[in-house]
Amino acid sequence: MRIIITGGAGFIGHHLALHLKDKGYEVLCIDNLSRASRSALTLLKSHEIPLIKMDVQDYDNLVRILSDHDIIVHAAALIDVEESLLKPLTYFENNALGTATLVKACVDNNVHRIIYLSSAAVYGNPISLPIAETHPVDPISPYGLSKAMGEEVIRLYSRISDLDYVILRLFNVYGPRQSHSSYAGVIARFAERIRAGRPPVIFGDGMQTRDFIHVRDVCIAIERALITEHVNQVYNIGSGNPTRIIDLAKIMIKLSGLKLAPIHIPPRQGDIRHSYADITKAVKCLGFRPSIELEEGIRELFQFSD
Ligand SMILES: NC(=O)c1ccc[n+]([C@@H]2O[C@H](COP(=O)([O-])OP(=O)(O)OC[C@H]3O[C@@H](n4cnc5c(N)ncnc54)[C@H](O)[C@@H]3O)[C@@H](O)[C@H]2O)c1
Repeated sequence: MRIIITGGAGFIGHHLALHLKDKGYEVLCIDNLSRASRSALTLLKSHEIPLIKMDVQDYDNLVRILSDHDIIVHAAALIDVEESLLKPLTYFENNALGTATLVKACVDNNVHRIIYLSSAAVYGNPISLPIAETHPVDPISPYGLSKAMGEEVIRLYSRISDLDYVILRLFNVYGPRQSHSSYAGVIARFAERIRAGRPPVIFGDGMQTRDFIHVRDVCIAIERALITEHVNQVYNIGSGNPTRIIDLAKIMIKLSGLKLAPIHIPPRQGDIRHSYADITKAVKCLGFRPSIELEEGIRELFQFSD
């Protein structure tokens, strides 16, 4: 069995490639390199993990490389919520049409399972907390909608073909070698500023909450999804704990040993106030248990310079 990781040169994709190779899986990454990180490329190369430069919208080349023994982990996407508000059509095309093209190529090659990295962004403004998988899907950004559209395409093909799926709705993933630019990367952005001796910048009062999950815990969840019998299901993947952004900033400042005070700037329009996951289903069906405490993960992050 070979695992193909789309977006394999991105933050989660390259961590997953290294993790699965370490576990003895045969891994192949594909990525159009539009948002790949240099350190990810270096690590894939040094671990001899093959990477093919390819766009997931390129049906003809996809069908050339997919085979019926493969499992696909679909991580390729544009992931910046704010950018998606400025360029919605780019997001629909890249993420929704890209997923549709990939899934069609999977079905045409008898691929039997796809693991789709979806997002908590599909829920929009939560009407109940913690957010369970049964919560309505009601995105408030083109990014969130593009991820929800990808989910629907996968469900459709699963109904009309032999393709099985596992949809993982990831909450806020953090860890080494994450880009500083995206909203999802608030920890990476704070870390970048604190490393430079500058205070973290908080939108609004900082009382908004998020659910942070370490990328290594996410890799373990994905590994479970590769082998689970509980397929054709959606699972939340988070820590299950809310963290206030102000508390996050304080923890990070404390761990840096610097004397800094966070800066507050006006809240961002459309920001979700509170978000954290009910992970009961993933715990029960995937045997998923987050193991890295936030402080531990952040302490480790400060040891990495890239
Ligand atoms: N990082 C998070 O906190 C988070 C949270 C929820 C969901 N997710 C989901 O996890 C997945 C991975 O996120 P990430 O943080 O690693 O993002 P990332 O931007 O670091 O990686 C995405 C990779 O996909 C590639 N890519 C984009 N469009 C492509 C296309 N059309 N064809 C081929 N490659 C393409 C990029 O070059 C990049 O290397 C995404 O699907 C995202 O929606 C991430």
